Amino acid sequence: MKIVVVGGTGLIGSKLVKKLRERGQEVVAASPTSGVNTLTGEGLADALKGASTAVDVTNSPSWEDAAVLKFFETSTRNLLDYEAAADVQHHVALSVVGTERLLESGFFRAKLAQENLIKASSIPYSIVRATQFFEFVKNIADVSTEGKKVRLPPALFQPMAAEDVAGAIARIALGSPVNDTVEIGGPEQFRLDELIRRDLAARKDPREVISDAHARYYGIEVSERALVPNDDARLGETRFEDWLRQATQQVPHLQPA
Ligand SMILES: NC(=O)c1ccc[n+]([C@@H]2O[C@H](COP(=O)([O-])OP(=O)(O)OC[C@H]3O[C@@H](n4cnc5c(N)ncnc54)[C@H](OP(=O)(O)O)[C@@H]3O)[C@@H](O)[C@H]2O)c1
Repeated sequence: MKIVVVGGTGLIGSKLVKKLRERGQEVVAASPTSGVNTLTGEGLADALKGASTAVDVTNSPSWEDAAVLKFFETSTRNLLDYEAAADVQHHVALSVVGTERLLESGFFRAKLAQENLIKASSIPYSIVRATQFFEFVKNIADVSTEGKKVRLPPALFQPMAAEDVAGAIARIALGSPVNDTVEIGGPEQFRLDELIRRDLAARKDPREVISDAHARYYGIEVSERALVPNDDARLGETRFEDWLRQATQQVPHLQPA
């Protein structure tokens, strides 16, 4: 079985490529780095030749409203067209839990546009909606920082390890298309403000987290349950504290003099 991972050099893509290869699959990691560009179509026909499954784990380089919408619309349209021409039988795409509850944000309008194009296409599909990755928690703190304070709402939050995201996508890519949306999330629920406080403390980051129900999450107000998955979500195994302990223990490699 040949599987093309589009965005195969990214955070999730590189882990997914490794997992699929470990399971004996023929995998192509496709991205601009390897001469495959979903915006221009460059390299797509060759990459998809003979593939039964294509997994889209790309992300837009810019999250500005118009740019991100253009990225996901153009990239998804091209990918689906080239997949149809190559007779690909399963399109798997990574999206985000709560997308329909976050549409004041241009990024989520773009993810919904991506999902709608997939649903309207003739190719059997599985849309995987994941909660936020543990690896993304620091970015949340950074974009919510004003001076030395991080302002965040106490919304419920159920993040998961990128490794578990990749594992769940691998299982879905190796199965039959569900022609539906599957939700995945972390094993525990937190409050967003509290989790960021713990993350910063573990990193000895002096920023203070201020809890504020009206603080914005990537520019929008979020309701208490906007970011958490449905009750039937498949849950990852890695606990945040275990991941954080490992992440903060990593010592940078010393360069030889
Ligand atoms: N962050 C979160 O917490 C979260 C939660 C749920 C879902 N997601 C979704 O997860 C997906 C993957 O996220 P990630 O963090 O793994 O992304 P990432 O690390 O930023 O990687 C993005 C990938 O997209 C590729 N790419 C960019 N432009 C491309 C183009 N024109 N043609 C083909 N490939 C292109 C990049 O290739 P190069 O390396 O060659 O540039 C790279 O492989 C995103 O769609 C995101 O919406 C994220």
